[in-house]
Amino acid sequence: MSQPKNYGLNELREMFLHFFETKDHLRLPSFSLIPQNDASLLLINSGMAPMKPFFTGEQEPPRHRVTTCQKCIRTGDIENIGHTARHGTYFEMLGNFSFGDYFKNEAIHWAWEFLTSPEWVGLDPNRLYPSVFAGNETTPADDEAFRIWHEEIGIPEDRIFKFGKADNFWEHGSGPCGPCSEIYYDRGEKYGCGKPGCTVGCDCDRYMEVWNVVFSQFDNDGHDHYTELKQKNIDTGMGLERLAVVCQDVDSLFDVDTVMNITNKVTEITGASYGQSLEKDVSLRVITDHIRSASFMICDGVLPSNEGRGYVLRRLLRRAARHGKLLGVNRPFLYEVVDTVVHENEGHYPELRERQAYITKVIRVEEENFAKTIDGGMKIFDQLLAEHKEKGETTFSGADAFKLYDTYGFPIDLTIEMVEDAGMTLDRSAFDQEMQEQKTRAREARKALGDLGWAGVEFGKDIPSTEFVGYDRDTVEDAKVVALVVEDELAEELMTGVDGIVVLDKTPFYAEMGGQVADHGVITCGGAKFEVN
Ligand code: SER
Repeated sequence: MSQPKNYGLNELREMFLHFFETKDHLRLPSFSLIPQNDASLLLINSGMAPMKPFFTGEQEPPRHRVTTCQKCIRTGDIENIGHTARHGTYFEMLGNFSFGDYFKNEAIHWAWEFLTSPEWVGLDPNRLYPSVFAGNETTPADDEAFRIWHEEIGIPEDRIFKFGKADNFWEHGSGPCGPCSEIYYDRGEKYGCGKPGCTVGCDCDRYMEVWNVVFSQFDNDGHDHYTELKQKNIDTGMGLERLAVVCQDVDSLFDVDTVMNITNKVTEITGASYGQSLEKDVSLRVITDHIRSASFMICDGVLPSNEGRGYVLRRLLRRAARHGKLLGVNRPFLYEVVDTVVHENEGHYPELRERQAYITKVIRVEEENFAKTIDGGMKIFDQLLAEHKEKGETTFSGADAFKLYDTYGFPIDLTIEMVEDAGMTLDRSAFDQEMQEQKTRAREARKALGDLGWAGVEFGKDIPSTEFVGYDRDTVEDAKVVALVVEDELAEELMTGVDGIVVLDKTPFYAEMGGQVADHGVITCGGAKFEVN
C-alpha cells in the first residue's frame, strides 16, 4: 500500500473547491456560523445546514450545483476533545451539493475520482472502504449505491460495508435528510486498537471516515415524520482536517499543519511542550480547539452570555481558560492566540483579519471576568473537596455544587469537570433538584408580590423609578446609570434573550408594553457603545 502525498490543509481546501468547479459547481463562500431562520440549530454544524431551503425547493439556489468549504461547530462530543484523533468542536467541512440536479451516480464517481486520481489527492484505492445503508423496518437498503460501488467503481463486494441508521442515515434536527454512503481510509495498523475484529466501523482511530455522501431525499418535520422531497439532492461532506490528517499521515487533527501552528503558539505562551505527557497534550489540544471555535464564533457575531449560542461560547472560553490554569498560566492569555488563528485562516476567511481587534477584545474581557469568578470559587471548591475527601466520600454533593453556582457564580460544567479530575462524581440529580427548588422559590416570591406577572416588583424595588422623557425627546445627554443587572433569578423573564439590563435615571426609550413595540437605539458612555434591543 502506498503512502499519501503530503498536502497542506489550505492546499487541500483549494484543490477540492477547484475540482468541483471543473464539474460545473458554483463556489460559494462559507456561510455564517449563526443559522438564519432555523430554530432547530444553535450553530451551523455541517455544510448543508445553511442551504436547507435549496434542498427543500423553498428557495431557488444560485446554481443547481454548488461547492463550499463551511466553518462548522459541533459541541456534542466536547468531552472527547483532545482525547481522540478526530474530534474537534471547530472544523471545516468541504461539500458538493446538487439541488435536484445529479444524484447517486455522479456523486459516487466524483468522490472516488477526487480521492484516488493522481491528478487530485491520489490516495491508494486499496486503503479505501465505502459503506452503504443496510436498511431498516421503514427504509429499504441502498442497493443502488451498493451496485454503483461494486459494478461501476469496481470495489469487491466484501470491501463494501453495510451499516444501520446510526452510521448510514444522515439527519440533524429537522429538514432534509436521507441514507448515505461513507468512505473510510485505513491509516494502518499503527493507529489501530489491535483488538480482534477491529475493522471499518471500529471506534478506534485506524479507519477514519473521510467522506459522507448523503442522498438527501426526505424531509424530517422534527418529529421523525418523513416525507419525500420534491427533488432528489446530493449533500456531501468531507472533514477538511480529517483529509489533512490522512494526507499528512499525522496522529490527530491537532497535528495538521495549520492547527499545529496554533498549538505552537499556545506552547510558546504557556511554556508547556507538546508530546511530553498526555495530560498536558489534552490541555494544549483543548485550548487550541476552543480558541479556534471562539475566534470564528465571535467573528460571526456571537457574544459570551448565559444562554443559547452565547453560553456555548462562554463555556468554550472558560474551559480553555481553565486548561490554561492547569498548565500553570494564571493570567488572561487566550486573546494572545487570536493573531495566529487569524494568520492561519485568513486566506479563506478574510473577515477574521477585518474583525481581529474586536475578537481579541471580546476574548480578553471574558477572560478577565472569568478570572475574578474563578479565583473566588476555586478556593471554596478546594475547601469543599478537601472536606469530602477527609470523610472518604467519592461523591461530591449536589448541594455544594449548587452553593458554588448560586453564591459564587461558578459554572456547573466546570464543577463537574473539576470533580471528575479529582476522581469523584458529582451528585447531579441533587444539584438539579436544588436548582428546581430555587426556581420554585423565586416564582412563589413573585406571585406573593402581586399579580403583575413579571419579576419587576421584586427586581429593582430599591431603585428610584426612571423618568420617561420620550414624549418630546429622542435623546438624553446626561442620564445616569442607577443599576446594572447581568444575571438575576428574580428578573428571569426580563433577562430572556438579553445580555444585561441597564437602569437609567431618565430615558427616551419606551419599553415594550401593552402590545406596543419597544424602542431600539444606543447608549454611549466614554468610548463604549451599547445596543438597546
Ligand atoms: N450532512 C452530512 C454530514 O454532515 C454530509 O455533508 O456529514
